[in-house]
Amino acid sequence: MDRITVIGAGNVGATCANVIAHKDLAREVVLVDIQEGMAEGKALDIWQTSQINHFNTRVTGVTNNYLRTKGSGVIVVTSGMPRKPGMSRDDLIKTNAQIVKDVVEKSIRYSPDAILIIVSNPLDVMTYVAYKAANKHHSKVFGMAGILDIGRYTAFIAEALNVSPKDIHGLLMGGHGDSMVPLRRYTSVQGIPISELLNKEEIDNIIERTKKGGGELVSLMGTSAWYAPGSAAAMMVEAIVDNQRRIFPVSAYLTGQYGLSDVYLGVPVKLGKHGIEEILELSLTEPEKKLVVKSAKHVKETLSVLDKMKIF
Ligand code: NAI
Ligand code: 2OP
Repeated sequence: MDRITVIGAGNVGATCANVIAHKDLAREVVLVDIQEGMAEGKALDIWQTSQINHFNTRVTGVTNNYLRTKGSGVIVVTSGMPRKPGMSRDDLIKTNAQIVKDVVEKSIRYSPDAILIIVSNPLDVMTYVAYKAANKHHSKVFGMAGILDIGRYTAFIAEALNVSPKDIHGLLMGGHGDSMVPLRRYTSVQGIPISELLNKEEIDNIIERTKKGGGELVSLMGTSAWYAPGSAAAMMVEAIVDNQRRIFPVSAYLTGQYGLSDVYLGVPVKLGKHGIEEILELSLTEPEKKLVVKSAKHVKETLSVLDKMKIF
């Protein structure tokens, strides 16, 4: 790909640009930030690792200069405030909605064909804001959360079993928040169902820790995570750039799937060069369905805050 833009050169954005560069996914990655010199500095620092880490992707940074992002094939939006201790992701809505709307409108003007990956929180609602602001088909606008949440889930399972995380497959659905729905039925270690390796209580504990995984890091660091979120967003970029058609849980716009519509929610999708090529509809059990619907209800409640703001 010729050019990829990452908006927000903070913790997540810079990490994402760094991983994209390491994987040589584009000729150029442009980091954009509102804070004078921040994107330029981080980009220069990453670029100065190119010989050391052996990559060609040119990493550049700009302050609010969207002309320099022209013709991007993928735009990753990470701009916005992160959580502070005691804050929920939803507390961020007012500040971040305005930021996301603004950066999407500005960036899409110069890259009308770009696929948009949203990272800013509250994720499912910010992805909805981006969809409205971009005025593009929803297969080209979606959010990153599920890959991160699965990363946490599988890391905890690997630790509990003392095995390689590479052999663990997991799936979760729902909103990116404490209402997320890790699906134990779809969790396996090299094909072996997790229920054969851990007892119910052990799995319950891992699921609970996963749901609160973001908060655990906020309490440790005073701000939210970035290595796993940045890498997860870069993994989605890779699936698009290399047309991999990978199956990932992604925050996608639903049009009747799982009985839900006009909401962004984490569901398994096929991701390739056109963006979301298919939303996979699993045959959920009644209890699983209930949890997914409850999670969607929470996202819709947060969306109503957006309605009151009247930003569209
Ligand atoms: P950060 O504070 O390190 O970086 C945010 C950057 O956005 C700052 O450099 C800031 O100057 C910039 N920014 C603010 N307004 C801007 C604008 N109008 N245009 C361009 N840049 C602007 O925050 P961090 O840790 O990188 O997190 C970024 C966002 O990602 C937060 O909303 C956070 O909650 C979210 N997040 C989402 C995750 C997910 O799974 N979806 C996981 C981790 C974080
Ligand atoms: C996370 O899950 C806060 O969404 C952020 O780390």
